Amino acid sequence: MRTIINNVLEQLESFRPGTLAQVEEFRVHMLGKKGVLTRLFEEFKNVEPAQKRELGQHLNQLKNKVQEAVKVHKEQLLLQTERGPKEGDLTRPAHFADVGSRHPVSLVQREILSIYERMGFAIAEGPEIEDDWHVFSALNFPPDHPARDMQDTFFIHTDSDNPVLLRTHTSSVQVRTMETQKPPIRVVCPGRVFRNEAISARAHCIFHQVEGLYIDENVSFADLKQAILLFAHEMFGTSARIRLRPSYFPFTEPSAEVDISCNICDGGGCNVCKHTGWLEIMGAGMVDPDVLQASGIDPEKYSGYAFGMGVERIAMLKWQIKDLRLYFENDVRFLEQFGEEVP
Ligand code: PHE
Repeated sequence: MRTIINNVLEQLESFRPGTLAQVEEFRVHMLGKKGVLTRLFEEFKNVEPAQKRELGQHLNQLKNKVQEAVKVHKEQLLLQTERGPKEGDLTRPAHFADVGSRHPVSLVQREILSIYERMGFAIAEGPEIEDDWHVFSALNFPPDHPARDMQDTFFIHTDSDNPVLLRTHTSSVQVRTMETQKPPIRVVCPGRVFRNEAISARAHCIFHQVEGLYIDENVSFADLKQAILLFAHEMFGTSARIRLRPSYFPFTEPSAEVDISCNICDGGGCNVCKHTGWLEIMGAGMVDPDVLQASGIDPEKYSGYAFGMGVERIAMLKWQIKDLRLYFENDVRFLEQFGEEVP
């Protein structure tokens, strides 16, 4: 009897069923009417009383083990069939992972840059944490200019003559370019800028700009106007018209605010253009000779133009987005509308 018990234990150890049918076969073989264990229990009646106690315990343990093994193997096999075979069922539909899409600000920034790249401009980048010199002083901002106020600019240190701050425009990159390169210079400067503004549908404390700078001999206002017109046609279609209104920036003279004809009503007047027929798209002007001088460029020999636009604003005009805050909320339902999935 002990040999049979040991034999059953060995069989139990090496039992690796591949199918539910094999488990059932094993169960009948052990526990069925004529099963090994059933017969052992019958034989048990004839065991000498002195051995009954010990053998009885062994037999009961064995029966529990067999029952447990049958149960565990069944469960495992059932789970496996639910999950499918290990190799994978090649006919099952594939699970597609969600892929993101490019942010509308990135899309428009790329489009702006590619238009200027085609006109021969190179891309220049610079630090977001800047000093007063590159953001203000080199650009002719007088010491008491309101932009230098804490209300408008995020300062990091103000304890020196050249305070450290978050750049309020990417004109600082133009200064860095003029300091390190010799004319002819043709650069566009994309990047994040920071202004201490209350957040609303029309203003945010972080936004993106693309600014441009062109310096060479004999660069004139006509060159600036033509480059702006070309940009407007590429960005908003060849029916777009432009208009320049006199304006003021400390670093350009003369300066202008540039409008395009409203791309919704084509100049007829609607809500988007507040019934003026025009939408403001950028600031521009001829680089002030003092600015050239401050960066070591001879204003007698060279002249240049500069322009700067807000990327969020151009994207708002392109897609009629009404609230600037949408760009920063990262709501996928908003973001995925602009297409171009990133692989
Ligand atoms: N730097 C200006 C701004 O941030 C834009 C600008 C750039 C205007 C170049 C004129 C020329 O508002």
